[in-house]
Amino acid sequence: MSEKDLYEKIVELAVRRGFFWQSYEIYGGVAGFVDLGPLGSILKKNIENKWRQWFILKHQDFIVEIESPAIMPKAVLEASGHLEHFTDPIVECLRCGRKFRADHLIEDAIGKSVEGLTPHQLTEIIKENNIKCPSCSGQLSEVRTFSLLFRTTIGPYSENVGFIRPEAAQGMFVAFKRVYDSMRGRMPLGIGQIGKVGRNEISPRQGVIRLREFTIMEVEFFFDPEKPKCPFISEVENDEIRLITAENKLKGIKEPITVTIKGALEKGYIVNEWLAYFMALAQKFVRELGIPFNKQVFEDKLPHERAHYSSQTFDQLVKVSRWGWIEVAGHSYRGDYDLSRHMGFSGKDLTVYKQFSESQEVLVEEISLNHEVLERSYPEEYRKIVNAFSKRDKNIMLAELKAKGYIELAGKRLGPEFFKIAKVKKVVKGKRFIPHVVEPSFGAERLLYATLEYAYTVKNGRVILRLPRDIAPISLAVFPLVSKEPLVSIAKEIYENFKKEGLRVIYDESGNIGRRYARADEIGVPLAITVDYQTVKDNTVTIRNRDTWEQVRAPIKEAYVKIPEYLRYRLEFKDLGVPLKK
Ligand code: GLY
Repeated sequence: MSEKDLYEKIVELAVRRGFFWQSYEIYGGVAGFVDLGPLGSILKKNIENKWRQWFILKHQDFIVEIESPAIMPKAVLEASGHLEHFTDPIVECLRCGRKFRADHLIEDAIGKSVEGLTPHQLTEIIKENNIKCPSCSGQLSEVRTFSLLFRTTIGPYSENVGFIRPEAAQGMFVAFKRVYDSMRGRMPLGIGQIGKVGRNEISPRQGVIRLREFTIMEVEFFFDPEKPKCPFISEVENDEIRLITAENKLKGIKEPITVTIKGALEKGYIVNEWLAYFMALAQKFVRELGIPFNKQVFEDKLPHERAHYSSQTFDQLVKVSRWGWIEVAGHSYRGDYDLSRHMGFSGKDLTVYKQFSESQEVLVEEISLNHEVLERSYPEEYRKIVNAFSKRDKNIMLAELKAKGYIELAGKRLGPEFFKIAKVKKVVKGKRFIPHVVEPSFGAERLLYATLEYAYTVKNGRVILRLPRDIAPISLAVFPLVSKEPLVSIAKEIYENFKKEGLRVIYDESGNIGRRYARADEIGVPLAITVDYQTVKDNTVTIRNRDTWEQVRAPIKEAYVKIPEYLRYRLEFKDLGVPLKK
């Protein structure tokens, strides 16, 4: 039998020790769903908390976190464009009836990326290359689109359609005005959220890498487009970042270039300072999960590869063994797309007001009726429509026209030909604007997998999970050297005391001490305390380092204080006590 690859080794460890496994296993399992086990769910929470540290807590005066529902009414996803655009191309075998994601099937067959091509273009490629069903070599159908939205009904009425959200973002756009008001009109303003999302993938075959239900950690960062500068950019401007630029992609160059954040902004590779700032933080956050900078890269997506809402997107990719470069985050400039659409579809004002220090001349768009066309087309309803128009907010009508392509007045859907839009100069003391948005958005389960892969090492034939010590699910193991009194009682007391401090600790007295160290190393416990006969005499214990297997001896009282500091990377191992010879 061939040697297992790293992915298989990690899955084997994950299942055996309780990190993750396929959901609904006893019923045969369902592709695209995983359970996180006792260790996996702590690891994920620790990754989430690290994200929180970098993206929310660091900016807590202007980036806040909310929770919004996972089920959304149709109206929200109609407005966001997901109902229309959130699809994948699907192809069916005309002989065996199997269905495949068309772009992946073609990529496997011809070894070239066809991301973002239309169903028609994909159908042509299938014909030109004579691609057949990978299962039975049957003829393939035309390519069509398949909605990735999970559909349900809300309550007992079949017309009340709802969907599981495909991204947490929409909950934050819809709640923008509430949060903005509760933050007393703060601009710029970030809204963050960690939550489950659902995407009904056609045929997910990559285990934990491609899930139908997963956790997104994202920030929607709202700012005034006339003030796009990030005041913190100097903190990161000399950081180097690896970019696969759009310019190079168009020339067929897939190798990344290394530039500083400052350079990337000056050269126009990254269009906005806030986007660049969050990308710089993102690479440090991912670095702290144990994934080196040279195993991370940011790929600029070409217009046809981007989501419908985006005017620039960088995929943040990390290298993993079996799957190559996988996307762990998307960094998008969403402009005013989402708020404009929600304003147009909901009819609610989602603009914010800014006061000028002194009156200024500004250009404003003004909408009026094209009376000639209106009267000619609707002689009967003309008066009613004019009356309805006069009662509506003009800015909201402009947004409605832009979002829907029509304005509904007196029961009639009126397209652009019924209106006149003029740019008028006005002297004003302030103005309303729709904030622009940049969005860093991470997939938690993919990060969890990549974290495990980079932590997985083998020493003397044994697995050591070198998880960063501040995210390891278990921080400390406490062992009596042998399972005898008084060592057992002393070890249990130490175990209880660390638990009281809020640490995740394991106590283990079964098997020889070497076996116990090995079990702890395999799940990434950074430190192990061993109580021996000397402890009985002088209250000192040995502390063992998971990665180097070095040991120090220290008074237990000191260990209570220093170990939490070590776990926060504020102390080194040598600071914990006096080295023991191996
Ligand atoms: N909100 C980011 C995404 O949908 O991937």
